[in-house]
Amino acid sequence: MKRPIFGKLYQFSQYIPRMDFTIHQYLLATEPSILFATGTVQQAERSLPAIEEILGGRPLDYIFVSHMESDEYGGIRIFLERYPDAKVICSRLASRELPGLGVECDCVAADGDTVIEEGDISLKTITYPCEVHLQDGIIAYEQNSGILYSSDLMQSPGDGRDTVEECGYLPRAESISPVRIPNEKGLEDTKRKLASISPRFVAVGHGFCFVNADIM
Ligand SMILES: [Fe+2]
Ligand SMILES: [Fe+2]
Repeated sequence: MKRPIFGKLYQFSQYIPRMDFTIHQYLLATEPSILFATGTVQQAERSLPAIEEILGGRPLDYIFVSHMESDEYGGIRIFLERYPDAKVICSRLASRELPGLGVECDCVAADGDTVIEEGDISLKTITYPCEVHLQDGIIAYEQNSGILYSSDLMQSPGDGRDTVEECGYLPRAESISPVRIPNEKGLEDTKRKLASISPRFVAVGHGFCFVNADIM
């Protein structure tokens, strides 16, 4: 069986050599369980059997969608067909877009103040201006395990499959550039929100995950 990358967090990845770019999804196999990003349809079809095996007959309880791009939600139907009771945690904007795409699901529309306290998890959502229109993207901080799922923030190029680096979290958060968030106030607000938490592990959407060297 697949081994976790940190605590009860399992990583599923695809590396694209011509772009030198890695796309990750994660399963947090707590109770309740959470899938962070579905990947594309092809990635979802590949990761589903391993996810079923890890969950060992338990349901997938939540699917976290950071924003509406194919790597984040593209395979959502695959998971909803298998786990029709899974709730989708997404922004209010995404919760209005999913029905338009023919995706019927139970949405937890999250904003910056949302904390989901249930069983093993205390999941805080953090909003950030995200592509393509610098609107409501969300990332997730699971406060009990100290895992931050950062989606497209703090990403890096390279083959990041099954690799964990050590890195200071605050310098990485501070180094997010206007190339990623070309909205001065949005960038400043995002950095302020990121500086208010102190994760133990950062699960990036792309590139290399890292443990927070600031608190080791
Ligand atoms: Fe994205
Ligand atoms: Fe992404």
